[in-house]
Amino acid sequence: MRPPLLQVRDLCVEFDSGTRKVDAVRGVTFTLDERGRLGIVGESGCGKSTAVLAMMGLLPPNAEVSGQVLLDGVDILAGGDAGMRRHRWCDIAMVFQGAMNAFNPVRTVGEQIAEPIRLHQNSSRRQAAERVRELLELVGIGAQRAAHYPHEFSGGMRQRAALAMALACGPKVLLADEPTTALDVIVQAEVLELLRNVTDQLGVALVFISHDLPAVAQVAERVAVMYAGRIVEEGPVSTLLTDARHPYTTALVSAIPNPLSDAGMCSIPGEPPRLDAPFAGCPYAPRCPSAHDVCRELEPPATFDGVRTVACHLVSTTEVH
Ligand SMILES: Nc1ncnc2c1ncn2[C@@H]1O[C@H](COP(=O)(O)OP(=O)(O)OP(=O)(O)O)[C@@H](O)[C@H]1O
Ligand SMILES: [Mg+2]
Repeated sequence: MRPPLLQVRDLCVEFDSGTRKVDAVRGVTFTLDERGRLGIVGESGCGKSTAVLAMMGLLPPNAEVSGQVLLDGVDILAGGDAGMRRHRWCDIAMVFQGAMNAFNPVRTVGEQIAEPIRLHQNSSRRQAAERVRELLELVGIGAQRAAHYPHEFSGGMRQRAALAMALACGPKVLLADEPTTALDVIVQAEVLELLRNVTDQLGVALVFISHDLPAVAQVAERVAVMYAGRIVEEGPVSTLLTDARHPYTTALVSAIPNPLSDAGMCSIPGEPPRLDAPFAGCPYAPRCPSAHDVCRELEPPATFDGVRTVACHLVSTTEVH
């Protein structure tokens, strides 16, 4: 039997900054099928970017990474940086958080998109230029715009160009880290639709990171909710939106603004724990309205009920890891 396209198993990242250690990612585990679309949501600092940067082998040297990232059954972390270089951009690619502001202002957008193509696909200048034109058309920017500079693009167009660049070498998996956060709502909706359509058209599987649960619902079929470096609940988007089991997921769903309701915005009181100091029990316990003694003493294992995985003492199902 063919293995799933992407299996992330017990991924952990610890940053060592000399005087302090930060456990930024603590045992992230998920599976992504071919053409699948998984959203990852969670508050700022919960380890979303660190997890996907670890999957690309792009963390700084002070990061200690453990666990497995199996692509077509092959652990792409196992071969160190040299092994990872074979897969990065060609098999697994990423739109970085803030990518739309990361273009070099003194080079044309076309030159910058051509760079990974020339580097990883050994293409001639002419072949790369042709591919850039195709990619720009694919993301809804006219091919003639290749000769323009980043400042001549709107924010939405720069985000489309960043997407074109990530897709340049034909990856099987695309990791998109907050690709719409800095955009206004109309442009955000257009970019979300583009992301869904383009990945669908090319048959690329997607991991979509966002603070915004409704945005995830628009793009993804499944959602993983991260809290303090761990996935605390993962399952079909519709299930988590209507029947969340983890109290943190319930709080995130309640915090979605409803324009038709008079009730004000509902924020989640308290804040996540610091990840640079040891804590006991469930990291959500200090904010959880239903926490018991055991929640303050023991971190709950992840359990699977046939539809979703959840890590909460208040939910008893079959333990998976
Ligand atoms: N290079 C680094 N060195 C030390 N600590 C780091 C480094 N990069 C990230 N961290 C820490 O790791 C934790 C997770 O950060 P990360 O950027 O992955 O969170 P995030 O969920 O992507 O947040 P946001 O939603 O704000 O983008 C934070 O506590 C952060 O301070
Ligand atoms: Mg981030």
